[in-house]
Amino acid sequence: MAMAQNPNRPIWLHESNRSIQVIDQRLLPHELKILTLSTVDDVVYAICEMVVRGAPLIGVTAAYGVYLAGLSAPENGYASYFEAACQKIKAARPTAVNLAWAVDRVSAAAASASSVETLRRLALAEADAICRMEVDNCRRIGRYGLELIRRIAEKKNGEPVRILTHCNAGWLACVEYGTATAPIYAAHEAGIPIHVWVDETRPLNQGARLTAWELGRAGIPHTVITDNAGGHLMQHRMVDAVMVGTDRTTHTGDVANKIGTYLKALAARDNGIPFYVALPSSTFDWTLEDGVQQIPIEERNPEEVTLVQGLHDGKIFSVRVPPETSPAANYAFDVTPARLVTGFITERGVCNATKESILSLFPDKISKNSN
Ligand code: MRU
Repeated sequence: MAMAQNPNRPIWLHESNRSIQVIDQRLLPHELKILTLSTVDDVVYAICEMVVRGAPLIGVTAAYGVYLAGLSAPENGYASYFEAACQKIKAARPTAVNLAWAVDRVSAAAASASSVETLRRLALAEADAICRMEVDNCRRIGRYGLELIRRIAEKKNGEPVRILTHCNAGWLACVEYGTATAPIYAAHEAGIPIHVWVDETRPLNQGARLTAWELGRAGIPHTVITDNAGGHLMQHRMVDAVMVGTDRTTHTGDVANKIGTYLKALAARDNGIPFYVALPSSTFDWTLEDGVQQIPIEERNPEEVTLVQGLHDGKIFSVRVPPETSPAANYAFDVTPARLVTGFITERGVCNATKESILSLFPDKISKNSN
């Protein structure tokens, strides 16, 4: 399949319609390997182990995972089998709300099925619809974010607009374009000079490995920096805006994203630099009020902190950094309070980080949070 040779999406349905194929993001940028996911267990493994990662992509993978559950469901008793599989997929990772959102959506779309055949057909149609919708959302986020970048560019006399980003909120994390990277790609396509500061994003280095790879392939000037460099760059007026993605944002404006995002927001506020969060509506949590207290923060295997992976002599190796006897802790996300966020870039436009402003873009969600 041509796409497998040089994919520009991290996921696609196999032509047999019986499995999905994904880029194994654990090996990028050093090796481009495609994995085939045929069962619910494959999908749960891929999400847990971060073969696929990034909130929108986790949602799309989970949606197809629900379809795969339908494929393996028995003719008799398919409903209970299907429900158990949905719960298993939902439990794969706790922070990105897209996971439960996508599973619930596909499961609801298939709920009316009176046979396992119908269930499979409805589940596939809904998973495809979610995938198409996320592509479209990212494209729209790009258009709205482009206007923000254009306004900054107008004051720069042709000098590059310098954007700092954290983790990977690009097409690898979504399906196409990305969220935080969509305005960057749109500005690049519009001929606006751009330079991106790429936080390496320890411990798994999604910035250094994935965002840098994406930007390099697109020919966008960028520089990888240590996670601790952002504050220094902001103090010295070397950053015009921060743009990040998110794994879950409350409808009150609190933003869960990759660990370290909060520190970038603090430094941006101290230096009067705009801090934008780009997200599709599937990443809003319409139920939680207080992100700091209520968003579940994933804690991952401490070995991701103690071991660092890289390329040496053409092979990917892991090496240990701290002493073998030192314990490590691996908090995967943090929450940036709404008061530090300049604005949200969504598929429906840009809004402030307040409940009122968010709901003014999404009035159809008001019934779900009447308080
Ligand atoms: O642990 P990860 O790699 O799944 O975390 C991803 C992030 O934190 C991204 O910034 C977020 O999902 C936004 S994706 C468009």
